[in-house]
Amino acid sequence: MAKAKTIYACQSCGYQSAKWMGKCPDCSQWNTFAEERFEKANSPRSELSLGSKEEPAPIHEINTAEEGRVQCGIGEFDRVLGGGLVPGSVILIGGDPGIGKSTLILQAVAAVSQKDITCLYVSGEESQRQIKMRAERLGIAASNLLVLSETSLERILDHVKKIKPGLLVIDSVQTLFSSVIPSAPGSIAQVRETSGSIIVLAKKTGLTTFLIGHVTKDGAIAGPRLLEHMVDTVLYFEGERGHSFRILRAVKNRFGSTNEIGVFEMKEAGLAEVTNPSEIFLMERPLQVPGSAVVCSMEGTRPILVELQALVSRSFLAVPRRTTIGVDHNRVALLVAVLEKKMGAKLFDQDIFVNVAGGVDVDEPAVDLGIVVAIASSAREEVLDGKTVFFGEVGLAGEIRGISQAEARVKEAGKLGFERCILPTSNYVQLKHIKHPKLVGVGSLNECWKLLF
Ligand code: TYD
Ligand code: MG
Repeated sequence: MAKAKTIYACQSCGYQSAKWMGKCPDCSQWNTFAEERFEKANSPRSELSLGSKEEPAPIHEINTAEEGRVQCGIGEFDRVLGGGLVPGSVILIGGDPGIGKSTLILQAVAAVSQKDITCLYVSGEESQRQIKMRAERLGIAASNLLVLSETSLERILDHVKKIKPGLLVIDSVQTLFSSVIPSAPGSIAQVRETSGSIIVLAKKTGLTTFLIGHVTKDGAIAGPRLLEHMVDTVLYFEGERGHSFRILRAVKNRFGSTNEIGVFEMKEAGLAEVTNPSEIFLMERPLQVPGSAVVCSMEGTRPILVELQALVSRSFLAVPRRTTIGVDHNRVALLVAVLEKKMGAKLFDQDIFVNVAGGVDVDEPAVDLGIVVAIASSAREEVLDGKTVFFGEVGLAGEIRGISQAEARVKEAGKLGFERCILPTSNYVQLKHIKHPKLVGVGSLNECWKLLF
């Protein structure tokens, strides 16, 4: 057996060093180094290495007939996965505490277990009774769903070998514990080794696996970065505190696009799909109030209409405030400068707040025009027409540039009863044939102002 060695590992990113350091050279966090004992020879992964007996093969001879995806029947979830679960894939899902990760995965797994697939849900955070109570609340009664309250990696691996489930859930990787590794549960060394073992097992046996992970205070999944490289799909489940909407977003997906989002609402009996998010995001929109504009943002292949709100008010600070929620701060600063320079708005002594209602993030240049008109509307105390949608990218010269997928956006606006779209001239030229909603092309902010104010 190799001699036990002491190393220092950054608890935030997993960087290892022979000496203690105050600041991590990799992730620049302070005071994150902790001593870990490291025994090479005994790593539980060594017996599980991927070592397959495959020979190199000519690429044109490799069989690509896709293994059937398993749809779990929760449409929003399947969409984010790229059209269902790929058998044998490993999916890591992260999110703030209490956001609903356990609830989402329990609902998805219960749906999968209806398809005669044995599912094993291992929780290191809740007892079997607690999981059962949650399942009752969610109205789940599935005989193919086994639950286990366990944190020991070795015992979990034993159970998996015995039961041979088709789907495994680990809730959460930070609670896993291997007795071979001397560090405390939740430390980088434990997370790296234990989740590594699970991933290797999943890859070797073709076991579809969900790993639930905690996030650090700046929103990344806690544990080594390596974890995100090893899995096939990384999902984040996010939402604003105080809002019941939750958004599932893929940041990495080997089997699909990362642009798709799934929208859910947390209700009394679990998470419900929101199939028409625009309607919900616009539900509480105030009419006849200055500073409110509706824009259309593409989330993957789906257009979503959201309300942008701006509030411009007299500042009593030497440097007026520019606060944004849901849109990029620098983008707003740039657009405010364009407004001042090109349209003569006097905003230097005004606080400006911009907010996207409903707790969604929109980061697309196509919402520029909406931001600009919302700020102008609040500054001038003039109401914008409530039946108009704005889209267009605003350039530094005050010109309005074309955007992608204009037709899909216009159709979504029409579907939700909007009567007019103000859009870039270049897009208007291509969409002249559309009669409803009424399209108005604008080439510059000046032209837009003539229509509005
Ligand atoms: P949970 O899935 O335990 O979150 P996580 O695993 O991400 O920490 O969700 C917990 C929250 O969800 C809790 O605050 C209560 C709420 N909730 C509901 O509103 N309705 C429900 O049916 C369930 C199960 C939870
Ligand atoms: Mg949980």
